[in-house]
Amino acid sequence: MSDLNRNFIAALNRKAQSTPPIWIMRQAGRYLPEYRKVRSNFRNFLDMCKTPEVCCELVLQPIERYNFDAAIIFSDILTIPDALGLGVSFIEGKGPVFSNPIKKPEDISNIRDFDPESLDYVYKTAELTRHELDKKIPLIGFAGSPWTLAAYSIEGSSSKNFDLTKTFIESHPDDAHNFLEILTDACFEYLKRQIISGVDAVQIFDSWANLLSKEDYLEYSLKYIKKLLKRLSEDPVTSKTPTIVFARDPKCNLNEFKLDDLSCYGMFTSINPSSAIGVFEGSHALQGNLDPKILLEEDSVIKESVLKILSEFKDYPGYIFNLGHGVTPDINPDKVKVLVDVVRESGS
Ligand code: CP3
Repeated sequence: MSDLNRNFIAALNRKAQSTPPIWIMRQAGRYLPEYRKVRSNFRNFLDMCKTPEVCCELVLQPIERYNFDAAIIFSDILTIPDALGLGVSFIEGKGPVFSNPIKKPEDISNIRDFDPESLDYVYKTAELTRHELDKKIPLIGFAGSPWTLAAYSIEGSSSKNFDLTKTFIESHPDDAHNFLEILTDACFEYLKRQIISGVDAVQIFDSWANLLSKEDYLEYSLKYIKKLLKRLSEDPVTSKTPTIVFARDPKCNLNEFKLDDLSCYGMFTSINPSSAIGVFEGSHALQGNLDPKILLEEDSVIKESVLKILSEFKDYPGYIFNLGHGVTPDINPDKVKVLVDVVRESGS
């Protein structure tokens, strides 16, 4: 740990850096030609995720290209529902599809027990990557939030409104809570094993936070994120590993995320930096939040937008530059280089 890039880990521990560390969500993915080349060797995306040597190569691709300050495990948040027997596959143009989704309460009682060893391929990726990565680059592990995993598992695919999921939680709130408990336990075991296998920080993706009303968000999502963070902070194996929560446009007040067991809040695109600074006041590290769409603009617009964000966070203790959501497949990799250069030059 002492050899790691002090930048990223120090920022997570709320130490101001003269140049903010930078990584970007979904940094290994379809916008990179070298990713698409490897991907073309696999029909099924999850088969690729189950091949640790290939995942390790994919983690390293954006590091080699941009020299980011942190790497993230190449995998997917849907490995847990897959391990629970819900039959996850990825269909071109359609995203994830479940052959065995949660349609009724009995489907939850019939779910198989989560066996953390069934995701051994992810821990192997972590071990291999930790070994291959320059000692100085920290490795981020991740999981979906219990709510986001539940939403996919009930809906059975991506959807605009997730109507099946909303109807399910309204009609069967107790069963929904049982399912969220199962997922919280699974996320804890999963992240713990990633940490044992060498990851240096963990991020929880609450990508479907935006589906819920303020009250429902607290009850169905944040409550379980809190349980997960508490378990991580209480277990001697995981308690020292910094945690990041990224939530997509949650309807609750930002101060709900001022959690004792959380190291860093990942800001979605819509969050106003000065509001976040006003709410957190240095109590947590902050990460984000350039709108990924800005990367479609001319270089001068990218530079201006990045400098604006950097100036807002200039004096903030513990700031990590990132996008406000994942980089999309339509982005030209040269634009990411523009972004990285502006951030790096800002400190010199
Ligand atoms: O560098 C990285 O971040 C790569 C690792 C990674 C992937 N997925 C690889 C992936 C991570 C951290 C994820 C997280 C993930 N997966 C999230 C949370 C992040 C977010 O954007 O909110 C979500 C919601 C998923 C679920 C998922 N996986 C969907 C909806 C899809 C299909 C459409 C899409 O957005 O890409 C995937 C597939 C997937 N996961 C791809 C990659 C590179 C593309 C698959 C392909 O190449 O065919």
